[in-house]
Amino acid sequence: MEAQLQELKTQALEKIAEASTVKELNDVRVAYLGKKGPITDLLKGMGKLPAEERPKMGALVNVVREEVTTQLEARMVLLEEEAINAKLQSETIDITLPGRPVKTGNAHPLTRVVEEIEDLFISMGYEVAEGPEVEKDYYNFEALNLPKGHPARDMQDSFYITEDVLLRTHTSPVQARTMEAKGGEPIKIICPGKVYRRDSDDATHSHQFTQIEGLVIGEDIRMSDLKGTLSVFAKKMFGDDREIRLRPSFFPFTEPSVEMDISCFKCGGSGCNVCKKTGWIEILGAGMVHPNVLEMAGYDSKRLTGFAFGMGPERIAMLKYGVEDIRHFYTNDVRFLSQFQRTEL
Ligand code: DAH
Repeated sequence: MEAQLQELKTQALEKIAEASTVKELNDVRVAYLGKKGPITDLLKGMGKLPAEERPKMGALVNVVREEVTTQLEARMVLLEEEAINAKLQSETIDITLPGRPVKTGNAHPLTRVVEEIEDLFISMGYEVAEGPEVEKDYYNFEALNLPKGHPARDMQDSFYITEDVLLRTHTSPVQARTMEAKGGEPIKIICPGKVYRRDSDDATHSHQFTQIEGLVIGEDIRMSDLKGTLSVFAKKMFGDDREIRLRPSFFPFTEPSVEMDISCFKCGGSGCNVCKKTGWIEILGAGMVHPNVLEMAGYDSKRLTGFAFGMGPERIAMLKYGVEDIRHFYTNDVRFLSQFQRTEL
């Protein structure tokens, strides 16, 4: 029996050493140490031994069982470790691999220019005002000192809906509406929005485009206030060393009226293709609010005065970003739009 036991032990230890997976080792455990295994069988058979041999054999079986158990457990620890290592190996993530680029949305270049202008004027205490795109002839023209039949109406070819309703041709009607609503009180607003004209679309004309109107009304508002404001605007949008100049012009709603030019941001004034060799670039129209416009909206033009200006964000964006065709802003070709990535975020 002792020889049988030694043989079993040798076999078990061999099988333990051969087991190469946790599962195989578990099978060995069940085969040799389980309730139906040979070692248990031997213990059961001890009853047949003479009484004086039983303790010795019992002790021997226990020694063998312990040794097999110890070896098995040691091998188990090893195989489990190997299994974990193999899993870690096969699941390795290469964190140095470049990621897939995420396509992010982006603000439209026009939106950016409009927001930049809004932010500047808001920082100077202006409020943003809006008005309807389908507008009454009264606010679009009449309240701006352009009575029916006025020749200057022809400067802005209009889409009429009825005789008295049209798509607004500029954002100036928001001036008239705000003044009427404020009932004679001071005003400081900018009015961004879409406008419509019956123009044939080409590289510099669009039947729909955007404008930003500015209006300040208060006590003792002068031309010098307008000039200072426009100078701040020009420097913010086109660079700190921009000069501005005001040229006499005509708008029915302002008197005097001016057009503002900035010194060319490309050549600095010496003459180039951007400024058409003049050194100056025309940016916007402006002037002191005409007394008729103030009076029509219920203001006392002796007590309060004001200035106004109107600009086209498309023109500003075209100059700022070197865009040669206004239609790019509306055809929404992603190859065009994706060039305006916001880098400042
Ligand atoms: N409304 C004018 C236009 O569309 C632009 C303009 C010029 C607005 C002078 C003004 C201004 O407020 O003072 O051509």
